[in-house]
Amino acid sequence: MTADAIHVEVDPAVDLVNPFARPIGPAILVIFGAAGDLTKRKLLPALCNLWSSKLLEREIAVLGIGRTALDTASYRERVREELAQFATQSLEPRVVEEILERTHYLQGNFDDAKLYPALGEKLRELDAQCGTKGNHLFYLSTAPEFFAPIVEHLGRAGLTKEGGAPSEASSSGWKRVIVEKPFGHDVASARELNERLRAVLHESQIYRIDHYLGKETVQNILVFRFANGLFEPVWNRLYIDNVQITVAESLGVESRGGYYEGAGALRDMVPNHLLQLLALVAMEPPTSFAAEAVREEKTKVLRAIPPMTPEEVLTHAVRGQYGAGTLDGTALHGYREEERVDPRSSTETYVALQLRIDNWRWAGVPFYLRTGKRMPKRVSEIAIQFRRPPLLLFRATHVEHVPRNVLILRMQPDEGITLRFGAKIPGPSVRLGQVAMDFCYKEHFHQAPTTGYETLIYDCIKGDPTLFQRADSVELSWEIVRPILEVWKALPPRAFPNYAAGSWGPPEADALLKREGHGWRRIEP
Ligand code: BG6
Repeated sequence: MTADAIHVEVDPAVDLVNPFARPIGPAILVIFGAAGDLTKRKLLPALCNLWSSKLLEREIAVLGIGRTALDTASYRERVREELAQFATQSLEPRVVEEILERTHYLQGNFDDAKLYPALGEKLRELDAQCGTKGNHLFYLSTAPEFFAPIVEHLGRAGLTKEGGAPSEASSSGWKRVIVEKPFGHDVASARELNERLRAVLHESQIYRIDHYLGKETVQNILVFRFANGLFEPVWNRLYIDNVQITVAESLGVESRGGYYEGAGALRDMVPNHLLQLLALVAMEPPTSFAAEAVREEKTKVLRAIPPMTPEEVLTHAVRGQYGAGTLDGTALHGYREEERVDPRSSTETYVALQLRIDNWRWAGVPFYLRTGKRMPKRVSEIAIQFRRPPLLLFRATHVEHVPRNVLILRMQPDEGITLRFGAKIPGPSVRLGQVAMDFCYKEHFHQAPTTGYETLIYDCIKGDPTLFQRADSVELSWEIVRPILEVWKALPPRAFPNYAAGSWGPPEADALLKREGHGWRRIEP
C-alpha cells in the first residue's frame, strides 16, 4: 500500500491500472514450496497480474524450489497448466510466456545443507543472466517447521547478507524473507521463531504475511475511516454500542484435517486475521502511511486488550464443532468424519469471543468476534452498531423501539459498505422502517479480480512493510488468545459436535451476546 496510491482520484468508469504506482524490481522471487498449493493458486497468478498491469520491471525472475523431481523445462510446463486453471483474470498469452521465460526451478530438500550452496550458485547465475542485481526475495511457502531451518541455512550459506560485493556468496542488493502463516502456535513458539529469524536477519528483512491485509477491502478500512470527515468523529464509545467481526466460511476443513486437528479455529483465524481486522477498526489515526506509524498504532490496540482471566474465558469465549447437517440442500458430514480427523476429536471449528479494548476511545464497547467453518454462507464483515437514540419523541406512537444504525464493512464476497438507518414508512401514522445506503465495489470500480497477494508481493519487493506484521504484534496477538488456549486445553469440551453444518454456530454464541442485551447481526443466506 503506498501513500500516493491512496490519494488518487479515480474515474470509476475506467478499468484502472494505477497511474501512480510504478513498476518495481529488479528482483528474484525465490519460492520455497514451488510445487505447493499456495504457489499455484495465489503466488504465480498474482505475479502474472502484476506483470500484466505493468507493475514489474523486466528484470524479474522466479526461482521455484521444491522436493518434486522437476527441471526448469518441466516446471514451466506445469506452471503453464496451473495458470490456465488458477489465473484470476484472462491473461494475454504474451503475459504467460513472459512470466514462464523468467521462471526457473531447483530441486532440493529444504533441510539438506547441500541445497544452499547450489542455490547460491543458481542465484549468481540468474543475477548475471537476468540483471536482477542481487535483490532476492525468499518466500517461505512451506510447512511451518521449515521456516526457521530454511532461514538458518540461508544465513550459513551467506545468502541473507545485504550489500556484499558481487563476488561474495551473497552478491550486492537486498535480501528479504516472507514468512507465511502460521507464525508459531502459541506465545512461546512465536517468540522462539522470532528469535531464530532475528539471529540471522535484521527485522527490516522479515515480512510476516497475513493475507487478509492484502485484500483491498481490508486496506480500505483505513481510507474509509481517515479520508472521510463524517465517520471518524463518531468512531468511539460515545456513539458506538458494539462492534461485530464475522469471518464465516461455508467450506469445511477439506483436505487440511491433518493441519487443522492441531490448530483449530482459534489458532487458525483469531491471532492473525480477526485481530488484524479489529486493530484496523479500532486504531488511532496514524501520523502518516509510513510503515512504522501504521504498525505502531495497530500494536497499541493489541496492547490495550486485557488478556482474559480463566473465569472470563468460561463466560466470554465459546467454541463449537460442526456435526452433520445440510447446506443448500446437500447433506454434509460432521467434522469428526472428515479425512485425517480423529473420530473423537475435540478440535473446535467455530469460535466466538467477546473482547474489550481498555483505552479512552473504546472502554465499555464490546468487540464480538466469530469465525467458523461450515456456516450457511461465506462472508467476512465488520458491523459497527451505533447507540440507540432516546425514545422520547416516539412515546405517543406505535414505535416501541428505535433500531440501531449499523454500518457494515463487507470484506468478501459482495465487497462494499452499507449504512442501515431508520426511515418513516409513508402513511398517516408514524411507523419506522429500516433502509440501507449501499456501496458496491464491483459496480463502482471495474477492476479485474485479483488473488489478494499482488499488493503484498509488490510491497515486499518495494521494501514497504506496512501491510506485514511486526514481531511484537504477532507475539501480542498470541498473548491475547493464550488464556483461552490454556483453559480450553485444561477443560475439554463437554458436548461436541454442538452445531450442525450449515448453521450459524452453537447456541452459546447467541447467549454470549444476549447476556449484554445484544444479538449477532442477521446475515441473509
Ligand atoms: C487461512 C486459514 O489463513 O484463511 C484457512 O488457514 C481459511 O482455514 C482461510 O480458510 C480463509 O481465507 P479467505 O481469504 O478465503 O477468507
